[in-house]
Amino acid sequence: MTKLLIVLGSTREGRVGLPIAQWVKQAAEEDDRFEVDFADLAEIGLPLLDEPNHPRFKQYVHDHTKAWSARVDAADGFLFLFPEYNFSYSAPIKNALDYLNNEWVRKPVGFVNWGGNSGGTRAQATFRIPASAVGLVITRGNVEINFPQKQLADDGVFEPNEQQATVLRAQLNEIVALGEALKPFRG
Ligand SMILES: Cc1cc2nc3c(=O)[nH]c(=O)nc-3n(C[C@H](O)[C@H](O)[C@H](O)COP(=O)(O)O)c2cc1C
Repeated sequence: MTKLLIVLGSTREGRVGLPIAQWVKQAAEEDDRFEVDFADLAEIGLPLLDEPNHPRFKQYVHDHTKAWSARVDAADGFLFLFPEYNFSYSAPIKNALDYLNNEWVRKPVGFVNWGGNSGGTRAQATFRIPASAVGLVITRGNVEINFPQKQLADDGVFEPNEQQATVLRAQLNEIVALGEALKPFRG
């Protein structure tokens, strides 16, 4: 069983990220290879990084950091869901990453991104640098959604197209395979 932590990195009121996350979460939960945890950064409400020590030392002083550390530690792999803001990744996803260090190391991560013109391409491309800095191993495929609002049904449910669903399945397969293969290399 792969413990998958899905992290939603858009926090603003009215975000399209929530219906996208509900699609991703449902797809992972229907796959019996996964035990799924869902971290909505809007709900968790981590402040901007306020720990006095470098996270590499794991000398956390705040309860919110200890709770976040335990959740990430427990995971074998991740799906990070975040929009493109100003040609880059969203601030909450980078903040959540920066809080920790060894908890991420040598674990697979897949990205699901969205945006207007770009479909989130620059969000995922720019996030590769900080993700690699903490030792995350990025899946080859990544879901990119162009103007996701156009794929919301009248009841607000996100309806993926065939290509998006196919890439998500490929990512889930990679997370299982990489999660197993990387276990001996974890910090
Ligand atoms: C502050 C801000 C900056 C944005 N910058 C970009 C951008 O650089 N490229 C793009 O394709 N879309 C951009 N958008 C459009 C967003 O991708 C779109 O609004 C999307 O719905 C945001 O995701 P969310 O609803 O989950 O917050 C921006 C939106 C906001 C609010």
